[in-house]
Amino acid sequence: MRIIVARDYDEVSYKGANLIAAQIMLKPNSVMGFATGSTPEGTYQELIRRYEKGDISFKDVVSFNLDEYVGLEKDDPQSYHHYMMHNLHNFTDINKQNIYLPDGKAADLLKECKEYDSKIESYGGIDYQLLGIGTNGHIGFNEPAETISNDTMVISLAQSTIDANKRFFEKEEDVPRQALTMGVGTIFRARKVLMLVTGEGKAEILEKVLFGDITPQVPASLLRMHPDFTIIADEAAAALVKNRI
Ligand code: PGA
Repeated sequence: MRIIVARDYDEVSYKGANLIAAQIMLKPNSVMGFATGSTPEGTYQELIRRYEKGDISFKDVVSFNLDEYVGLEKDDPQSYHHYMMHNLHNFTDINKQNIYLPDGKAADLLKECKEYDSKIESYGGIDYQLLGIGTNGHIGFNEPAETISNDTMVISLAQSTIDANKRFFEKEEDVPRQALTMGVGTIFRARKVLMLVTGEGKAEILEKVLFGDITPQVPASLLRMHPDFTIIADEAAAALVKNRI
């Protein structure tokens, strides 16, 4: 595990984009796992800038996403499909055939989960997985639980996640109660994992992830066992750990 402490959100975004751009330069047909949420937005802007400068091309990149809400149409402004198109994919040369997210409107959600994992496998697995982290330690929508989830599955959102995400919706009742998410196993099988952690609101959970028990009650803590796991945290998020790393 490596931990990089950056000054602030902008520097996290800059350094995050550096690592992702290096991955794409070294392997132009990388299978990328992307994340949503407010944390990676700056990193996506940096990546678009590097694409515009001609430093990297997404032409051969394959993109998978961690998760999607159940019940939202792809073009719903709150869907993660919409988020990815408007925060990254519409501004690069990625082949639109190479963009995959779980379909939250699938008639058979369990079948959709199985097919999503098969699709990832058909590309040889994920080379590089980008993650944020929930204040409860979730990765994707893998909420604190008794057991480790393996494959992509249908989950019920924790109340703490509904509370955290309601800021994106008009009212709390509009937040979908279910989502499809890659399992911890799916994430763990990625060859490299990069987690971005920003803001003082993430300081307590980052301390638990780094120094607490490795437990499915703090899903991100499991990544301490991953062979190639990097965290970039800003000083605010690293406030409780910076003297110990
Ligand atoms: P955030 O969400 O980037 O909006 O804080 C992260 C997450 O819930 O995984």
